[in-house]
Amino acid sequence: MAQLWGGRFTKQTSSTTKQLGDSIYFDKILWREDITGSIAHAKMLGKQGILTKEEADHIVEGLQSIYDDLDAGKLSIPNDYEDIHSFVEATLIARIGDDGKRLHTGRSRNDQVALDMKLWTRNAIDMVSEKLLALEETIISLMEKNTETFMPGFTHLQKAQPVTLAHHFGAYFEMFKRDCQRLKDCRLRENFCPLGSGALAGTTYPLDRAFTAKELGFTAPTENSMDSVSDRDFLLEFLSDLAIIMMHLSRLSEEICIWNTNEYRYIELDDAFSTGSSIMPQKKNPDFAELTRGKTGRVYGDLMSLLTVMKGLPLAYDKDLQEDKEPVFDAVTTAAGCLEMMEGMLSTASFRKDVMERSAKHGFTNATDAADYLVCKGVPFRDAHGIIGQMVLYCIDNGKALDDLTLEEFHRFSDQFDSDIYDAISLKTCVEKRLTKGAPGEKAMEEEIQNSRQWLREAKKDIPVQA
Ligand code: ARG
Repeated sequence: MAQLWGGRFTKQTSSTTKQLGDSIYFDKILWREDITGSIAHAKMLGKQGILTKEEADHIVEGLQSIYDDLDAGKLSIPNDYEDIHSFVEATLIARIGDDGKRLHTGRSRNDQVALDMKLWTRNAIDMVSEKLLALEETIISLMEKNTETFMPGFTHLQKAQPVTLAHHFGAYFEMFKRDCQRLKDCRLRENFCPLGSGALAGTTYPLDRAFTAKELGFTAPTENSMDSVSDRDFLLEFLSDLAIIMMHLSRLSEEICIWNTNEYRYIELDDAFSTGSSIMPQKKNPDFAELTRGKTGRVYGDLMSLLTVMKGLPLAYDKDLQEDKEPVFDAVTTAAGCLEMMEGMLSTASFRKDVMERSAKHGFTNATDAADYLVCKGVPFRDAHGIIGQMVLYCIDNGKALDDLTLEEFHRFSDQFDSDIYDAISLKTCVEKRLTKGAPGEKAMEEEIQNSRQWLREAKKDIPVQA
């Protein structure tokens, strides 16, 4: 198919370089954005008298018909064009004739492609944010249902202090909340329109850049035309946000894998979110949690790949920038898919409360509370720590938990113990007394859930963002 730039050439591009240079097979995904941007550009050319009103209207009509036909599946995009911009322009000319050749007045593919990527990213941010919020909804309902589901909290993957499942999920709620906020921030910063920057140095036509910016829902036009055509940090920021989302999903996935082991048995995944083994009939594997963990590497790779593309690029546009697309498309598809999967996996999973509670009871998660008990009786904390340490050793040797000891056994270590020790170190008390803001105690948790609900309600109103 003829290129947009054939005039000064006497030979065709070699077939091997053409294969390397063409981007149509991956940038065809931008057809909506490309046509929408072109419609705004044509309207502006008409409004400014750069094209006659008739010419502009004719172009807009032609572009709209291409959009509608693509949307309805009546038209498809073959791979034998250089890129999506060439396809749209050639199709326009084929449909409306010579007026179509006027569309590219005062524009370059450099500002055009930057615009397309900004429009695409804006929608992608909204789509990913919606999936994040759906996951947050599932997480908060798990929090609401599990304020009294006791489980061990871990440090170093060793049982540490008792918490609740609500508290554990609350931590993930916060992570995904910050992810949402980061995306919102990224959207605000990227929302400036590059259209009208031309190849790099603007144009001599009296374009109205504020008009196209407004028409396309941007806050304003960008300030500097060289920056506009060569900036891809809006994509890097988005990719960083996606990499962080994947890191959070991966941590959660790792915990699901651990909780799903035969040893832990905290969680039972729904059959729809598990797989079997071709050889071992007993297996029920958490493949999708594992895959999410694995795909995290791929999204990190997408970020690294674009960072590396960008690091040595002189101003302004260089063809290297064409390499911005596949990593972004891949990262969005991957992160969106994993978010959706995680929401489904969590909302269908069942949690074995009895196993979790038993697990919290064994493993001395109440040792700190036992030490605190002695502190309340006037024993200095360092001494109390030592006494309880010796008691833990004694319990390990005798196969007991702290709560299993008789009062007589308690007295062997300190005469400060009374019969109220049993209540003081019961799982329920240990959790309930943790009432500092952000702690798992019921009252503190109530406040956390209320604040989280409130945030979620507000966040939902924001999406899709109306610019
Ligand atoms: N396919 C190109 C890209 O993605 C479009 C811009 C081409 N511009 C140019 N000066 N060759 O970057």
